[in-house]
Amino acid sequence: MTDTDYDGTIDWDDYWDDADDQERGEASPAAHHAGGVLADFVAETGADSVADVGCGAGAATFAVAEAHPEVSVVGYDAAPPVLAENRERAREAGVNNARFEEATLPAFDPDRQFDVVFSYFTLQYVRDVERALRNLYAAVEPGGALLFNYLNEAGREYCLESAEDPEANADRAFVFDPEQYTDRFEALLDGDSVLSEARIEATLGVEPRDAFEVVERPDVQWAWHHAPLVYVPKPDEEATA
Ligand SMILES: C[S@@+](CC[C@H](N)C(=O)[O-])C[C@H]1O[C@@H](n2cnc3c(N)ncnc32)[C@H](O)[C@@H]1O
Repeated sequence: MTDTDYDGTIDWDDYWDDADDQERGEASPAAHHAGGVLADFVAETGADSVADVGCGAGAATFAVAEAHPEVSVVGYDAAPPVLAENRERAREAGVNNARFEEATLPAFDPDRQFDVVFSYFTLQYVRDVERALRNLYAAVEPGGALLFNYLNEAGREYCLESAEDPEANADRAFVFDPEQYTDRFEALLDGDSVLSEARIEATLGVEPRDAFEVVERPDVQWAWHHAPLVYVPKPDEEATA
């Protein structure tokens, strides 16, 4: 059963509905390092609340909730099946400071704001990426930050090369399922979801900064230049008054 209208990517409801362990791992890039980065970012900035938008199986959501039991964390995703699993996992593990809610970018209107709004390896699937960015940034408390990664033009070029023959390129990064490859990355391959520092600044009016200016993680600092991890601070109310 599918309710969500995914524009420019695969049906993520179906994906999560019958994902095996391998597919769960392939759709959980935050498990590799971003969960720790988010938890460190929260520690460095003293955030009290976090939204993880496009949380998937919750690698970052659970990592930050468990590292900071005093911080309230909400994981959002468009796919109800993965949210249901996450709720069950939170209940079984006794993680009381994490909740899971449905949200489908580019729309995002959680009726509250968060000190940190985080989104990892999700914006590349959103065709109207500027609207998504504006809505994510609107959900940031003054004085907080939007922390996210994005696929840039180099990332798109890389994916276009893979798309020439996904079967033959099955060992390249992101070609998890060659048959679904061009459907999954359609918004990126079309160029719609490609971001740059300039496009982010033009959309939000604030220059993005390297997340590793805040978080010192030389062990995981991602040298790969296709998917930068950045944050956009939101001026606090006094500064804007
Ligand atoms: C590659 S996974 C990343 C999951 C998680 N952030 C991580 O890094 O482990 C992308 C996630 O985005 C979700 N997603 C896809 N399109 C979305 C949309 N328009 N709005 C919200 N979530 C979306 C998918 O269901 C999936 O869980």
